Amino acid sequence: MDNKLIDVKNLKTYFYTDAGVVKAVDDVSFSIEQGKTLGIVGESGCGKSITSLSIMQLVETPPGKIAGGEILYRGENLLEKTPDEMRKIRGKKIAMIFQEPMTSLNPVFTVGQQIIEAIMIHEAGISRQQAREKAIDMLRMVKIPLPEKRIDEYPHQLSGGMRQRVMIAMSLCCNPELLICDEPTTALDVTIQAQILELINELKQKTGASIMMITHDLGVIAEVADDVMVMYAGKVVEQGTTDEIFDSPMHPYTEGLMNCIPRLEDEVEELHVIKGMVPSFDSMPDGCAFCPRCEYAKPVCGKSMPELIEKDGRKIRCFKYTDQWKEEV
Ligand SMILES: Nc1ncnc2c1ncn2[C@@H]1O[C@H](COP(=O)(O)OP(=O)(O)OP(=O)(O)O)[C@@H](O)[C@H]1O
Ligand SMILES: [Mg+2]
Repeated sequence: MDNKLIDVKNLKTYFYTDAGVVKAVDDVSFSIEQGKTLGIVGESGCGKSITSLSIMQLVETPPGKIAGGEILYRGENLLEKTPDEMRKIRGKKIAMIFQEPMTSLNPVFTVGQQIIEAIMIHEAGISRQQAREKAIDMLRMVKIPLPEKRIDEYPHQLSGGMRQRVMIAMSLCCNPELLICDEPTTALDVTIQAQILELINELKQKTGASIMMITHDLGVIAEVADDVMVMYAGKVVEQGTTDEIFDSPMHPYTEGLMNCIPRLEDEVEELHVIKGMVPSFDSMPDGCAFCPRCEYAKPVCGKSMPELIEKDGRKIRCFKYTDQWKEEV
């Protein structure tokens, strides 16, 4: 039986700017089964946030537009839903913890008004007083000190880390089936970060929710994700199970990301880095987008973009695993 909660097929999200078309998400496909966690990694600007905003249909239009593909949620294409239908899905079935908390918190309402509103929209028959109590419980759960007092404060009165926790409380309060976390813990210190990951894990255990976890922190991915998707310049370059990817990264970019994880036992003083930068969309190389930074690159890599192929049960976009590679010296 098909157990996919979400199945994204050939998603293309483009920005039409004066400088040209920015293919922020370019033919990206992935699925998440019920109760599973998918980790999405890649350097800044690779299209991770735009992938998640596309699912929520919150891409700024114009200049952005979903130019192709399907987003199947329990088999139904979200791209065919009306704005009204989408509003009911957002928050209740699919919730998102945004990279920038102020995106989802309204500065003119108190924290409490916003959480209570969210609870009342999604829980029929609950009274305002009950919703307020539930909101205070949620704030306590995300370790906000003095929740009875904080609930009546405005977002600007809270620190960045606290705002992030308020947003996490808001997204968890309706027990979503799919929780999208876009860098949920970047603004938080490590102790709180561990508590937040624990909360997300609890939601998963308790409700069987699926999680899409976007983070720069590969340690977090190793801890929480079942599968990993590595993105580079809007495209998927490698996809596989977390164990496979961490044990034996196949794409040179994934290998580079893994090498950048500092290890305590390393005696070298300097940290590993991948030399160079992600190319900007107006200066994409002709061939593989990673070619200019790749230590294995051969002439073939500069000529055309490699296809995403299946190899040893995982997906990989690299000439190293093709016949063309063997033919070249
Ligand atoms: N409104 C916009 N207009 C034009 N280009 C945009 C717009 N929003 C995003 N982009 C481009 O889309 C690309 C992908 O952006 P995205 O925010 O998804 O990156 P990301 O992988 O989430 O990066 P980070 O790790 O920094 O959060 C970037 O190159 C960005 O410049
Ligand atoms: Mg982002």
